[in-house]
Amino acid sequence: MSALMKLKTLEGHLGALSGFSEPKIELEQYETPAHIAAVALYTMQTQYEALENKLVLDAGCGPGMLGIGASLLGAGMVVAMDIDDGALEVLQENIEEMEIPNIDAVQCDFLNSKHCRWENYFDSVLMNPPFGTKNNAGIDMKFLRMGLDLACDSVYSLHKSSTRTHIQKKIKEWGVKGNVIAELRYNLPATYKFHRQQTRDIAVDLWRIHHVQS
Ligand SMILES: C[S@@+](CC[C@H](N)C(=O)[O-])C[C@H]1O[C@@H](n2cnc3c(N)ncnc32)[C@H](O)[C@@H]1O
Repeated sequence: MSALMKLKTLEGHLGALSGFSEPKIELEQYETPAHIAAVALYTMQTQYEALENKLVLDAGCGPGMLGIGASLLGAGMVVAMDIDDGALEVLQENIEEMEIPNIDAVQCDFLNSKHCRWENYFDSVLMNPPFGTKNNAGIDMKFLRMGLDLACDSVYSLHKSSTRTHIQKKIKEWGVKGNVIAELRYNLPATYKFHRQQTRDIAVDLWRIHHVQS
């Protein structure tokens, strides 16, 4: 095993990435804060060896906070998907700035069923999915379900803690296994005009969900 980058160093690199240039409300475009992303990625690697030398998918990658972080922690290869060209342009800038050699960016709707050809393909699928608050209720569960279909090992996903019971119910319904591996606090910046306070402090769970055999 190669030496793992220190948590603080990882957070520093992620904190230097550019964010969405013109965030789109309907796509729930806000980055995972660098501290949360660093702790989440570190937990995946140190507790589950989910990143180093692995084939990783960053689903709904935005500017690449999770995918670039996975690469910095030694991922073998990262595929980063987002529906939005603007987000992928920022991702590309970040990749160049950080001189990341092993991320392939793909512009697509992650929920498109044609991704079935990648069934059980990725070791680890990482996501901070749209929470489903902007007239798109249920999109977080659709992301999770697709992630599970494409993962041969595990999905690592951030969700509001208030949805924990709902996710537990879904996990049971789908016949898979999962648990919360870290409880985090997400200080969501007032990115959009309708946010009255400057920041909103939200409790967030990092879930690890996997097929029964893994
Ligand atoms: C909450 S942001 C997370 C961004 C990034 N993963 C991060 O952690 O900083 C959700 C991302 O999902 C993308 N997205 C929303 N719907 C999508 C879809 N159907 N297919 C692919 N990407 C989508 C948005 O453009 C946005 O970049």
